[in-house]
Amino acid sequence: MLKKLTEAIKKKPIIGWGIFAVVMVGVFLLGLLAASITERRAEIATLYNNKKIDISGINPHSEEWGENYPREYNTWKKTQEMDFKSKHLGNVPEDVLEHRPEMVVLWAGYAFAMDYSAPRGHMHAIEDVTGTLRTGSPENGEGDMQPGTCWTCKSPDVPRMMHEVGIAEFYKAKWSQWGSEIVNPIGCADCHDPKTMNLTITRPGLIEAFERQGKDITQATPQEMRSLVCAQCHVEYSFQGDGKYLTLPWDKGMTVEAMESFYDSIQFTDYTHKLSKAPILKAQHPDYELFLLGPHAQRGLSCADCHMPYMAEGGIKYSNHQIMSPLKNISGTCQTCHRDSEENLRNYVYQYQDKALEIRDRIEKELSRAHIMAKTAWDNGATDPEMKESLQLIRQAQWRWDFAVASHGASFHAPVETQRILAHSLDRTMQAQLELQKVLFKHGITDVQMPDLSTKEKAQAYIGLDMKTIKEKKDNWKKTVLPKWIDKAKKEGKLTANI
Ligand code: HEC
Ligand code: HEC
Ligand code: HEC
Ligand code: HEC
Repeated sequence: MLKKLTEAIKKKPIIGWGIFAVVMVGVFLLGLLAASITERRAEIATLYNNKKIDISGINPHSEEWGENYPREYNTWKKTQEMDFKSKHLGNVPEDVLEHRPEMVVLWAGYAFAMDYSAPRGHMHAIEDVTGTLRTGSPENGEGDMQPGTCWTCKSPDVPRMMHEVGIAEFYKAKWSQWGSEIVNPIGCADCHDPKTMNLTITRPGLIEAFERQGKDITQATPQEMRSLVCAQCHVEYSFQGDGKYLTLPWDKGMTVEAMESFYDSIQFTDYTHKLSKAPILKAQHPDYELFLLGPHAQRGLSCADCHMPYMAEGGIKYSNHQIMSPLKNISGTCQTCHRDSEENLRNYVYQYQDKALEIRDRIEKELSRAHIMAKTAWDNGATDPEMKESLQLIRQAQWRWDFAVASHGASFHAPVETQRILAHSLDRTMQAQLELQKVLFKHGITDVQMPDLSTKEKAQAYIGLDMKTIKEKKDNWKKTVLPKWIDKAKKEGKLTANI
């Protein structure tokens, strides 16, 4: 073989040069590969040691953290994207009241009846809280609809301000007082310690709720922390007392019944319903509490396992910080554990959701009817003692409905628990109607006229909202007051990102 080659080269020297060239190219490529491997190893080793800039204190400027951790920063920035719709969710804002106008009736007497959109990515948190009609159009300390507490889950400027002015002072202020302070959307300093990059809890509400349960949150395992950082915001809470102190109602436990029993024990009510006069509890978004009761949490999974899957880039493994629907990237999320096809996995999610929504839609119809029956009873001379039982049932029904529905992922996170809660809600709703029917009969009413609730506008007009004026005021506020907040924050160096 070698002999043949030597002869061939002798006859045609070009073959020899050819072999030489191929070998040289090979050696060169091997060299490149070796260099890049060493470089990557060095990169991993130096990722922490060789930070480009030093970050200390509570630094709300995520773009500065990005200098040290470009992969996490670049994926975090993608939470601004609005390009994905699954069957029921996604990162596109959606006017929920327009699709389900009965919710306007359920929230009559509460700011949510004016405006409620489906959530989108974390980078929109500030623009959405200032943009919603629920925060009103306050100016020069006048016209505030919300307390400072309302900023709590929107920004890393919150722990910064709490540190500067004190926790209770932060909550107690008027919402507009922090308009030029809370300007950076949910970012690195909400979840990380800048020195170690360990996950950390920055919101006192969660720490205090653990303490009242006799637990020490600093003892949580790293895997638990991958959920607890989310539980700083994705939980049920309320504003307690005149100081509007943010409180998680976990003192008696974390189920829907245990939290209700806590609220009942302190006679807490978020608002009195404008039509039925029922003492209503507004559930926020108990994503964490419900998730704990589902099959994935019970197998030890955390939020980050599906919402922040690991990615690999040039040999470096990092967590995808584009927190959003895991269905955008089934191969990187579900399929890291499940062998099913993408289609099957997607359909599991849709099946659970569709089944829960069947019951949800029925509750929204019947519960809004119950409110209107109660209003009719009041209008026809019903008395407090006659109404007491039905109003209590309405409170219980609406708490359960809201609890299951406001946690947007619940029908997948904990499908059986969600169906159980919805079933109890529908049961209480129908019991309330039966009780109300009795009261109505007593006052000679046999037929309750239902208003036309086919659109959001009609429902809002029915409950007496002057939406035209409210919207005009807000639009004007966005043009006059909001730019002043942003200018001031920029001048004072509090808003430096170009976002
Ligand atoms: C909502 C909470 C949250 C926010 C906001 C957040 N992170 Fe993380 N980060 C996590 C979680 C959860 C992990 C995974 C930690 C683990 O597995 O122990 C993580 C991991 C990391 C790691 C370790 C390496 C890796 O990728 O797994 C770095 C570095 C990091 N984040 C940087 C950042 C930077 C920079 C920002 C801001 C641009 C940021 N994070 C914003 C929750 C967050
Ligand atoms: C500081 C409070 C805060 C923390 C911490 C937080 N979130 Fe959020 N999250 C929000 C808010 C507020 C929104 C709604 C933003 C909007 O619509 O403007 C949101 C939205 C979301 C969405 C909807 C995104 C979309 O594309 O529709 C998901 C999913 C989500 N969060 C999951 C998580 C997970 C998982 C964690 C923990 C790793 C977490 N969040 C930590 C406050 C927080
Ligand atoms: C086993 C995977 C998995 C885990 C773990 C998980 N989720 Fe989800 N989550 C999902 C899926 C699937 C959806 C529905 C997405 C869709 O329909 O597009 C969802 C939806 C959501 C939504 C609603 C998103 C929207 O667009 O409105 C939020 C918020 C959320 N999850 C937060 C959490 C939090 C907080 C945790 C931990 C307490 C958690 N998730 C744990 C899979 C998971
Ligand atoms: C980190 C691993 C992991 C990820 C990621 C994960 N799962 Fe699971 N999943 C599990 C485990 C473990 C179980 C329990 C399996 C068992 O006991 O047979 C489970 C159970 C399930 C079940 C059966 C639930 C039941 O009622 O018992 C479904 C459906 C499911 N997963 C769908 C999904 C979907 C859809 C996703 C992506 C959004 C996903 N999983 C992501 C680990 C995972």
